[in-house]
Amino acid sequence: MEMDQLVALCKRRGFLFQSSEIYGGLNGFWDYGPMGVELKRNIREAWWRDMVTSHNEQVAPPGAPSPYEMVGLDCAIIMHPQVWKVSGHYDLFSDMMQTCRQCKKLFRADHVGQMLKESEWVNSLGTALEAVPNPSQLAFRPESLLKWAKTKGRKLAPGLALVRNPEVTVSWMVERVRTPIGVGEFLQYVATEQLAATGFQTPCPACGGDLTEPREFNLMFESYSGAVRDESNKVFLRPETAQGIFVNFKNVLDSTRVRIPFGIAQVGKSFRNEITPRNFTFRSREFEQMEIEFFCHPSTSAEWYRYWRDRRYQWYVGLGLASDRLRLRDHEQAELSHYSCGTADIEYAFPFLASGEFGELEGVAHRGDFDLRSHAEGKLVRQGDALVVELDETGKPKYRGSGKDLSYFDDLTKERYLPHVIEPSAGADRAALAFLCEAYHEDMVPDEKGVPTSRVYLKLHPRLAPIKAAVFPLVKKDGMPESAREIYAQLKPHFNVFYDEKGAVGRRYRRQDEIGTPFCITVDGQTLSDGTVTIRDRDTLRQWRVHKDECLDELRGRLGG
Ligand code: GAP
Repeated sequence: MEMDQLVALCKRRGFLFQSSEIYGGLNGFWDYGPMGVELKRNIREAWWRDMVTSHNEQVAPPGAPSPYEMVGLDCAIIMHPQVWKVSGHYDLFSDMMQTCRQCKKLFRADHVGQMLKESEWVNSLGTALEAVPNPSQLAFRPESLLKWAKTKGRKLAPGLALVRNPEVTVSWMVERVRTPIGVGEFLQYVATEQLAATGFQTPCPACGGDLTEPREFNLMFESYSGAVRDESNKVFLRPETAQGIFVNFKNVLDSTRVRIPFGIAQVGKSFRNEITPRNFTFRSREFEQMEIEFFCHPSTSAEWYRYWRDRRYQWYVGLGLASDRLRLRDHEQAELSHYSCGTADIEYAFPFLASGEFGELEGVAHRGDFDLRSHAEGKLVRQGDALVVELDETGKPKYRGSGKDLSYFDDLTKERYLPHVIEPSAGADRAALAFLCEAYHEDMVPDEKGVPTSRVYLKLHPRLAPIKAAVFPLVKKDGMPESAREIYAQLKPHFNVFYDEKGAVGRRYRRQDEIGTPFCITVDGQTLSDGTVTIRDRDTLRQWRVHKDECLDELRGRLGG
C-alpha cells in the first residue's frame, strides 16, 4: 500500500482532515472526521476497558508477578510550571539543539565539542592520522584518510561525508587543505561533501553525519495564566500526561484503598511544538496519549517491567497488528535515559518509512524511583551511578521539588519505601494510524453481474470499526425499506449501525467495505415471505441468513457486547 492511497481514503471517507484546511491548513495539527472520531474513540475505549475497567484485581493475569489494582485519572492540561522544571522538561525542551541529519540523534549544541573529543570515530581517525603526539593538530594524508574511510570509518562513522563518498571528499580537500590544521576545522572538512552547496558541516559525534544548525528546541507550548503576561504567569501545555499522574500519587493513595502494586491510567491530549511534524499524523504537534504509571516495590520492578512490556505488545496483536510489521525492541544500554533501568519500544513498520525501518507506537519504560523522588526533592541529575538533586551556582537546588513525602508505607510489612515506576506510554493517534495502515486491503471481487472488480476495504478489528453493521433494503419498494428500518431501530440502541437505501446494493457494500464495516444486513424478497435477512461478512464476503428478529443476537455473538 502506498501511503498516498491511505491518506486519500482518510480524506474521502471522513477519517482525517488537515486542521483548518479551508485556510490552507496548520502544520502538525489534524482533525478527525465522522469516521475517524469513532475509530479513535474505539481505540481509547478498548485501551481503557482492557487496562482499567475490565481488569480483575483479584487474580494475577498470565505473566504478572501478582494480582494488582488499576484506577484512572483525568488531570488538567495546564499544570503548575514547577512540574515541568522538576521533571526535566523545561531544561531539556528549551536548549539549543542540533539534530543529525543521518542518524537523527539530538545533541545539545553546547555539548557537541566535548562529545566530539570523546567520540570513538574521532579518536580512531586521530590514531589513523598519527595525531596522537599532537592531538590539537591533524595532518592531512589523503591515502591514510581513504584507507580509514573504507575500513574503520565504515563501521564507526557511517554518516560521515568522507565515509559516504571518500573520493569526492578527499579530492576537494586535496585542493584546499594545508597541513597540519586544527582538529575542529579538520573535522568540518571530513564532514562536508558539497562545500559550495552546504558550507562547512559539523559532524555528529555518534555517526559522523552532518548536524543541523543549532536551533532552540522549545518543545513545550507556552501560554499565560491570568491577565498579566509576564514570566511569573507563564504556563505550559503539557507535553505528556504522565506528570499529572505522578503529582497525584499521594491523592490517589489517600482517597482510595489501593495498595501497591497498582497502576494509574490516563488518556488525554499532549502538545509538543515538534520542529518537523511529518508523516501524516505520526508526528503531530497536538496528539493524544494513553499512559499508565504502575507503582511497585523495587524488588519486583524488573518482573513488572517484563510483564507490562509483553502485555502491551500483545494488546496490539489482539487488535489486529499481528503481522511481521509489528515488533518489540529492547533499547540498548546506550539508548536508555539517565534514569531508566530498561526501556522497550513497540514499533510498527509504517509504509512511509524506508524498508526495514520501524516507528514507535508505544514506549514501555522502567523509570525506577526517578519521578516520585524528583517531585519530592527537586530536579535530579546523574552523578556517577547516583541520581542527585541538581544545584545552581549558589549551591541551592536548581528546581525545588514539592517537599512532600511521596513514599509509601506498607501497613502489612511495616516497610516504608519509594515505589518504582513502570510506564507503558502509548499514542492514540499513532495507534489509529497503524491500525489504518494494517487494515488497508485491495482485492478483486465479483460485482452484481459476476464481473471481477477491484475493491478497497479496511480489515479493521470489529472492536475498532467505526460502524459495526449497515442495514439495507435490497430495493426501495415492496415493504423492504420498512422492514430494514425496523431492524435498524432494533440495533441502534446497542451498536453504531448505519441505514442506507440509496443506489445499487453492490455500491452500498463497497462504501461500507471502504470504511471497515464488518457486517451488512440486507432485507430482500425472501424477508417478506419467511422473515429472514442476509448477513454479509466484509472479509470473506460469505453471506448467510438469519431471522430478522435475531439480528441483535447475531451481532452480539460476533462483535461481543
Ligand atoms: N511519558 C513518556 C512519554 O511521553 P514519549 O515516547 O515521548 O514518552 C509516548 O511518548 C508516546 O506518545 C509515543 O510512543 C507516541 O505514540 C506518542 N507521541 C509522542 N510524540 C508524539 C507526536 N509528536 N505525535 C504523535 N504521537 C506522539
